[in-house]
Amino acid sequence: KPKDPPPPLKDNGTKLVNDAKHPWKPLRDGDKRGPCPGLNTLASHGWLPRDGVATPQQIIAASQEGFNFESQIARRFTYSSHLIDGNLVTDLLSIGAKTDKTGPDPPAPANPGGLNLHGAIEGDASMTRGDAYWGDNWHFNETQFSELLEFMDKYGDGLYNYKVAGEFRYQRIQESIATNPEFNFTGGRFFAAYIETVVGANLFSDGRRNDSQVPADAARGFFQDSRMPDDFHRAARPFSTEGVEVVIGAHPFSPGRNVNGINTYTIDPNSPTFESDPDGCAQYEMFVNEAVVPLYPNPTGVLRRNLKINLQHYFDTFGGKCKQLFPYGRD
Ligand code: HEM
Ligand code: MG
Repeated sequence: KPKDPPPPLKDNGTKLVNDAKHPWKPLRDGDKRGPCPGLNTLASHGWLPRDGVATPQQIIAASQEGFNFESQIARRFTYSSHLIDGNLVTDLLSIGAKTDKTGPDPPAPANPGGLNLHGAIEGDASMTRGDAYWGDNWHFNETQFSELLEFMDKYGDGLYNYKVAGEFRYQRIQESIATNPEFNFTGGRFFAAYIETVVGANLFSDGRRNDSQVPADAARGFFQDSRMPDDFHRAARPFSTEGVEVVIGAHPFSPGRNVNGINTYTIDPNSPTFESDPDGCAQYEMFVNEAVVPLYPNPTGVLRRNLKINLQHYFDTFGGKCKQLFPYGRD
């Protein structure tokens, strides 16, 4: 039976996390890394299993311990990802490509493909990874990172921060509109695309700076090599989405997609936004009804039990503000 998520950190200040027990090590054959530089780094420092396959409980614990990621958002990211990309019977998720290490797959259309799976979780217009349309949605992309460095020089005096994030977020969207005929910026991706930019600023910044700014060499270490700087200290307090209003405010934008080839971006009025859905209830309902249930139309036994457990943990991150859905019954 899946373990409950760990509680928020008690001792939640900054501390050395690139410590003697958590040295960076290069990849071994078969180790998985993927589209998330945060989880990649936790795995390459042994805060997560170095092979990149972990339980939700381990992912939340490592994000909290290793980076001071705030409990509620760590749980929301983790359980949503696990429900779509993980193996709900074995309770294992790959932070990269699909692997046998997550165990035998439940019946299709379930598809425990790991975080590299393009769709409800991984999405377009990432900062340092390409769009799935081009065939690689998870390797570090040097061309995009060089552009990010230019933006850091232009808008951040050489540092990555909220201001740089606001400009680069918009630039990446414009690039995908103009080059990716299948560009999709709706649903959960719309929210994640903004939030991830500030998670990088807040958590890749050394806790002793405590200013949500990241030097260029540190940024390259995290994004490219899954590596913390020497002597890296985690954030000074738990961080969630602080700064996201700066990124949104820099270039207000609406969810939508290219409906008929490049440069046909069309706003989707049914896709929720930060303004239309401040409590996340529309996001919650859309995720359960349109992403989870289609993958698991008729689960039985352990699979059904574990779906309910994971859906409960996901719902718990909405702070009791939304109406709970019970697609697999209430018993
Ligand atoms: C991106 C999952 C925690 C930083 C992503 C993506 C996924 C993901 C699936 C790819 C989305 C995309 O760009 O298409 C998760 C999960 C977490 C987690 C399940 C569990 C708690 C963290 C932490 C950090 C982090 C702790 C920072 C320390 C980032 C950043 C990106 C990202 C900066 C954007 C990468 C880019 O646009 O190039 N994450 N993440 N994440 N994540 Fe995480
Ligand atoms: Mg992506």
